Amino acid sequence: MPTKKILLPEDDIPKQWYNIAPDLPKPMPPFIDPSTKEPGVGIVPKIFPKAIIGQELSKERWIDIPDEVREVYKIWRPSPLYRATHLEKLLKTPAKIYYKYEGVSPAGSHKTNTAVPQVYYNMKEGVTRVSTETGAGQWGSALSFAAMTFGVKATVYMVRASYDQKPYRKMMIHAFGGEIFASPSKQTEAGRKILAEDPDNKGSLGIAISEAVEDALVSEVKTNYTIGSVFNHVLLHQTVIGLETQKQMAMVDDYPDVIYGCIGGGSSYSGLIWPFYHDKVTKKAPKETKLIATEATACPKVTKGQYIYDHGDTARITPLVPMHTLGHDFIPAPIHAGGLRYHGIAPTISILTQENQMTTEAYNQLDVFDAAKLFIQSEGIIPAPEPSHAIKGAIDEALRCKETGEEKTILFLLCGHGHFDMQAYEDYHMGKLQPYEYPTEKVAESMDKLHTLYPWLDKVNKQYISCEPL
Ligand SMILES: Cc1ncc(COP(=O)(O)O)c(C=O)c1O
Repeated sequence: MPTKKILLPEDDIPKQWYNIAPDLPKPMPPFIDPSTKEPGVGIVPKIFPKAIIGQELSKERWIDIPDEVREVYKIWRPSPLYRATHLEKLLKTPAKIYYKYEGVSPAGSHKTNTAVPQVYYNMKEGVTRVSTETGAGQWGSALSFAAMTFGVKATVYMVRASYDQKPYRKMMIHAFGGEIFASPSKQTEAGRKILAEDPDNKGSLGIAISEAVEDALVSEVKTNYTIGSVFNHVLLHQTVIGLETQKQMAMVDDYPDVIYGCIGGGSSYSGLIWPFYHDKVTKKAPKETKLIATEATACPKVTKGQYIYDHGDTARITPLVPMHTLGHDFIPAPIHAGGLRYHGIAPTISILTQENQMTTEAYNQLDVFDAAKLFIQSEGIIPAPEPSHAIKGAIDEALRCKETGEEKTILFLLCGHGHFDMQAYEDYHMGKLQPYEYPTEKVAESMDKLHTLYPWLDKVNKQYISCEPL
């Protein structure tokens, strides 16, 4: 019988994070400051500590993980890599399926991997309070946990739709000593403006980011903003996932043919694939591994969005970011995978996509929950709705192997458990889920608006990311 749980000792917690920046097929395009139409980071230096800005812009391939951070990582790292033996049996597939499980962290997902260093660097620079947005609540819980660990206060703006769907996230944030507001909230100018126009607004990650950033900018106590995804330093911190997985796969003398993961802002999937990409560029990879990200048809930023410069938030406080986007005014359908409802994506994912290093597939939530059900029935772990997209991809691949007889090695990231997502499962069992699909016309509408707002955008897009004009 194959080993079910492939485990590493604590000494194998990585001592360095891997930074993809020097190995990208193309350099990262700069942020653009819309007030000057030139490269510029706008408010970024006002809301992040110096150490984080240094990592964001770093071209160093390997970055040391502070001992204090590794000490906290010990609570749940190294996380287990599982061989999905029961799922393989259920599917009757000749494929071998592995999943790296990040649900063992205190907050229940990969988000703690970056929350801990982010709060650590803030604390070192004298920051006493951190603010953030959260979608499904995983990131807000992770940040509150990390803030508690280093004696810092946390304020979380949680997208209203998820705040109502997942009440236990609020309680978890309170248990960790954080404070939480449903977004849009009356706490900020951005929130009040949106509520004045639409008192029933269900929120979006774009709105919650505007609120959290504004909070950090105007606060009288030393407050910084922290972000759960998209930015390079966040993806960098997540590489502990892939670095451990490489060692674990080597322990069973295997290597993935294909790697699946879900993408909200792209941090967990990048954390898994970057070290494998490094194997590829350094010619250490024993095979050509396919990288396939999965997203929601309700929020198809890579499969239907455009690769252009857009704001990271709805109130347009952030600089323009080069990324696949559905438009910063995107209001998502209330799907249960709250963490996948962001309008944009990490710029590195956009580069890897444009350079044909990876692809993305989109699934609707009904198909996703069908896949999650098979996973629960065989492996017994209840996945969060977000990684259930990766499970869907992995199961489809395993079923294709069944047809062709191929004995592929499939790896996917189970980046969080779904213990606080039980309403989603209940809605699924009661037949209440909708297979939302974001209309292409809505993307075109948002792109038109962006073009009207910034008539010079075509020129900037062409100059820095050499994409087709709008
Ligand atoms: C459990 C879970 N998975 C995935 C995501 C998506 O984020 P990312 O693509 O940055 O990993 C989130 C984001 O909130 C999440 O909570």
